Amino acid sequence: MPKLLTVQDLVVEVPARKIKIIDGISFSLDAGQTLGLVGESGCGKSMTCYAIANMLPRGIARTGGTVAFERDSNTSSRSKDPTIAMIFQDPTSSLNPVHTIGYYLESALSRHQGLKGSDARLEAMRLLERVGIDRAKSRLRAYPHQFSGGMNQRVMIAHALAAKPQLLIADEPTTALDVTMQAQILHLLEELRAETGMALMIVSHDLGVIARLADRAAVMYCGKIVETAPVTDLLQRPAHPYARALIDCMPSIDPDDLDPPTPIPGSVPLLDSLPEGCHFHPRCSRASGECSVRFPAPANIGLVHEASCYHPVVA
Ligand SMILES: Nc1ncnc2c1ncn2[C@@H]1O[C@H](COP(=O)(O)OP(=O)(O)OP(=O)(O)O)[C@@H](O)[C@H]1O
Ligand code: SF4
Ligand SMILES: [Mg+2]
Repeated sequence: MPKLLTVQDLVVEVPARKIKIIDGISFSLDAGQTLGLVGESGCGKSMTCYAIANMLPRGIARTGGTVAFERDSNTSSRSKDPTIAMIFQDPTSSLNPVHTIGYYLESALSRHQGLKGSDARLEAMRLLERVGIDRAKSRLRAYPHQFSGGMNQRVMIAHALAAKPQLLIADEPTTALDVTMQAQILHLLEELRAETGMALMIVSHDLGVIARLADRAAVMYCGKIVETAPVTDLLQRPAHPYARALIDCMPSIDPDDLDPPTPIPGSVPLLDSLPEGCHFHPRCSRASGECSVRFPAPANIGLVHEASCYHPVVA
């Protein structure tokens, strides 16, 4: 399968404070594949997405590495840019409250597909229906505050589809939603991926979401990827102690499972005072002397399974 996205040694910094937010991460994504990015709050998941989509906030810059996107020559999008679309955690605050849903979608259709007037309106209605919003014609006149969070997330997805993306980046798309809405949005993303063949990069701190959608997963800690593996391998045979610890934190709904979730001791260090060597060492039960000296290079655990650890967990 052709590579769609190749990220090599990506570095993202706050230049004014000489702080590295992303520290030399590499990964790739095949066309049509889903990659899950997981890790605790502040580990750099969103900044990785923003760097790929060229949407880094002011004051934060990509200072190293490459992001190569293999544009599909068969794409029907008009844009000369790579067709990457992104949806965010909080859909309601991502939508402009002074514009109607119709304006939002029709503007995107004009920009990406050159549709105007009634053509844009018809396509906007079709997109709304496709993402599961009924009475699409009247909904086009609604404002974001008249929609629930789940409906606004569907609008965000419809907006992303207007670009006919080859890659959809979904940054915590269900975190702000209740569990039933979460299940519906995940189901919709699954359907759309199968229907359109687009690749998906899904960010979540919820391993359940990653398990459901992703083919491969990458675990991030303090701006580095510490383990990558096919998602079933990662969940069943995590090699990095941090990945193992994240799994042990997951609550179970099985009444026979008497093991309570085990919290990871300590907290994620601040970026301006990262521990030397493996950044996880102050929190790691397997740490030895060498762990606090040098960051471990990624090593093969299996065929397409890598972890950066001196003492990986052996299944
Ligand atoms: N504007 C900013 N200036 C300086 N540092 C920032 C800025 N925005 C984010 N950061 C820092 O960059 C790091 C990575 O942030 P990022 O938003 O990518 O984390 P995340 O993994 O997406 O977390 P979460 O799960 O909470 O969304 C964090 O330590 C954060 O404090
Ligand atoms: S390198 Fe050492 S400190 Fe880091 S995760 Fe592995 S065992 Fe723990
Ligand atoms: Mg984030």
